[in-house]
Amino acid sequence: MQITRRRFLAGAAGALLLGQLPLGCTADTSGLPTPPSHAPELRAQEGSVQLTPPEYPETPVWGYGGSVPGPQIRVPQGQRVSRLFVNDLPQPSTVHWHGVRLVNAMDGVPELTQTVVPPGKSFLYEFDAPDAGTFWYHPHDRAWEQMARGLYGALIVEEPEPPFVDHDEVLLLDDWYLTAEADFHPSFGAAHDWAHAGRLGNWLTINGEGNWTRTTRQHERWRLRLVNTSNARVLPLEVKGLAGWLVALDGQPLSFLQQLSHLQLAPAQRADLIVDVVAQEGEEATLSLLQEDRGILFGTFAVNGVGRADRLPEPEPLPANPVPPLGDLEAARSASLLMEGGAMGGMQQAMLDGRNLKWQQLLNRNKFWAMNGVANVPDDPLLNAAVGETIRIRIINDTVWPHAMHLHGHHFRRVTAEGTHGPLRDTLLLEREESAEIAFVADNPGDWLLHCHMLEHSDGGMKTWLRVA
Ligand code: C2O
Ligand code: CU
Repeated sequence: MQITRRRFLAGAAGALLLGQLPLGCTADTSGLPTPPSHAPELRAQEGSVQLTPPEYPETPVWGYGGSVPGPQIRVPQGQRVSRLFVNDLPQPSTVHWHGVRLVNAMDGVPELTQTVVPPGKSFLYEFDAPDAGTFWYHPHDRAWEQMARGLYGALIVEEPEPPFVDHDEVLLLDDWYLTAEADFHPSFGAAHDWAHAGRLGNWLTINGEGNWTRTTRQHERWRLRLVNTSNARVLPLEVKGLAGWLVALDGQPLSFLQQLSHLQLAPAQRADLIVDVVAQEGEEATLSLLQEDRGILFGTFAVNGVGRADRLPEPEPLPANPVPPLGDLEAARSASLLMEGGAMGGMQQAMLDGRNLKWQQLLNRNKFWAMNGVANVPDDPLLNAAVGETIRIRIINDTVWPHAMHLHGHHFRRVTAEGTHGPLRDTLLLEREESAEIAFVADNPGDWLLHCHMLEHSDGGMKTWLRVA
């Protein structure tokens, strides 16, 4: 029998792999009387949260610390983050630190960087946070269920000299699929969702609140750090009564401020805004989701008084993070990635676990998507990069669905045939049948996942990986 990568890690050899991690990085402390005391605990557990209006019952969530969102982690740039993850869920889990260019062994990806943490066990995550910006953490095993039930939190890395604002607020935006009793709709794993857009919800929250409200005063300045934590919903957003700038995307500063108008956040994407309250005293400023020409209210800023006579002057762009420049694109190593499948996609067959399966056989295994003809993490990487090499990947979305492609451990830029570059990102929204080319410097050694962040697509087959060595 062929020993695949998956079987290798799942089998006895998995223990060997753990033994190779640097000292202090593995922490299955279950056998020890007390865990290492320097790391605060991050416990995934059941909880009960009022997501919906008070006339509804509380929702039986899964959350870090039992709450939604989980505790906000805030560190100065360059500082070490240490958390002892404890799994009190009824199923295995891991923690992924989305967008952080961290050491590979701490990336939290089952099959690739660690074995899963079973119920009742723990794992010590320890890494340095090189970039200042807005990041977040979430599970990476059965994420389509665990994140839908509320497991996520913000990781904020502070600039040495943050720009002046009156308020700095993280807004984790989520889309929940609930029943009339405010319980989870039981359609987890439903083939329809997996083959179409993913699990789309019927209830929106900011930081777990269905009616998120802040009071403010006219001309106060806010930094709003928006994170789309939805399983699958792309969020076209509109702000009213707030004027200002988009200053960072996916945790990386824009080199020039962009006047804020409309904003679109795909799952996992972030945007940092610096905005001034321009609504009048007694009015409201709002953040809404735009859907078919109507705005669905997400959050409200009630203007209660005047903070200062006029708006503050335009801020400076945030200082750049230490991401290496792209290098010579002509000499870059390149690969191409064909995305196929989904409803109305016409995919006939794909490889799964080393076997060529027909569409109907794939459906029976809840695999609806493939990349370069393979459903799920292939045994061989999409490419092998030398550390420091410039990489270009052409991504072809040959499906009639949008996808939010996320690369672990690196930020990339979208490049055009004319050689222009977009901003640094870690998650790229590709519209239906859209192609794009991304480029980055593979400066972070390890095995890095590249997958769709629509979580049902990801576990429905849309995952591959790169090796940097
Ligand atoms: Cu936010 Cu692979 O994940
Ligand atoms: Cu997708």
